[in-house]
Amino acid sequence: MRRVRYYQHGGPEVLRYEEAEAPEVGSGELLVRTEAIGVSLPCVRKVREAGSGTPLPGVLGGEVAGEVVALGSDVTEFKVGDRVTSLTFTGSYTELAVVPAFMASHIPDGADAVQAVALVRSGHVALAALSTARPAAAESVLITGAASGVGHLAVQLAKIQGVERVVAAVSSPAKAEFLRALGADEVVTYASDTWGDPVDVVLEGVGGDLLPRAVAALAPGGRMVFFGSGGGTVPAFDLLAGAKTITGLTMARFSTSRRALHDLHGEQLWELALSGRLQPAVHAEIPLAEAARAHEIIEARTNLGKVVLRP
Ligand SMILES: NC(=O)c1ccc[n+]([C@@H]2O[C@H](COP(=O)([O-])OP(=O)(O)OC[C@H]3O[C@@H](n4cnc5c(N)ncnc54)[C@H](OP(=O)(O)O)[C@@H]3O)[C@@H](O)[C@H]2O)c1
Repeated sequence: MRRVRYYQHGGPEVLRYEEAEAPEVGSGELLVRTEAIGVSLPCVRKVREAGSGTPLPGVLGGEVAGEVVALGSDVTEFKVGDRVTSLTFTGSYTELAVVPAFMASHIPDGADAVQAVALVRSGHVALAALSTARPAAAESVLITGAASGVGHLAVQLAKIQGVERVVAAVSSPAKAEFLRALGADEVVTYASDTWGDPVDVVLEGVGGDLLPRAVAALAPGGRMVFFGSGGGTVPAFDLLAGAKTITGLTMARFSTSRRALHDLHGEQLWELALSGRLQPAVHAEIPLAEAARAHEIIEARTNLGKVVLRP
């Protein structure tokens, strides 16, 4: 089988497409022949993180979709031949991925693997952020990184949930038309002096220098859900003065500590997508052998929706 790894940190050019032995499947795991593989900002950042202590050779995890070709012991809810999508931490840039059964879910009839990869994990993050912030219909929600895999679903889901004013924040005005077509009421760019009227809720998926700006965008009493891999520093006095709150969100914890809600979200996402009310956008489908090209797109910050690799 073929896979992608990297043997030194750096830019997209360090990714290596190589031949390898098929991995073994362990207890509670599924072996999946991948048909679609998600690319996301955390993977791109991980490759660049020289000196971070992440071991080499580097293995990228993320979401995959495909067909189950082998089962480990203690797996009862799946069988060989099932079509599934799942998160995996032990390597997703590969033709054969080992995934934990508890993170996997069936792909419904009528849906394809690319759609599954664009929808499920990103949709879980978007729904988890919304269910943490719980915006009322009359409230306003600002979403940073709004054209990303997670962000573009969050924009649509906020509108589906009846939020009156959804503000999409992005780095480039070139993304405005895409976001308005998905239902965003306003589109602002990070560089603009003002992001419009203050908002009740911010869903923050970028971090870094943008974080204080996002806190400032909150109205008094406003609340932020922070899920970005970019870290950042929060101006604590601004929280105090504005009676603002920030809640951290990581899916690794949400999907285990709020399992029932996580499973309900999975059903909701497919129902919405299959009925056409929620549209996961696929920016590009790129052969696994050209994974570097996929990382270049994310680094250029030009994607409108999900970037997907095809083995
Ligand atoms: N907490 C969790 O469990 C969890 C799970 C999944 C994803 N996330 C987070 O959600 C965010 C979105 O992830 P995603 O996979 O949906 O993103 P994605 O589809 O890979 O899209 C990346 C987008 O992020 C924005 N971005 C902001 N800073 C960037 C940077 N320094 N380099 C490149 N792009 C940057 C860019 O849009 P703009 O230039 O318009 O901002 C870019 O188009 C990420 O921060 C990710 O870490 C968190």
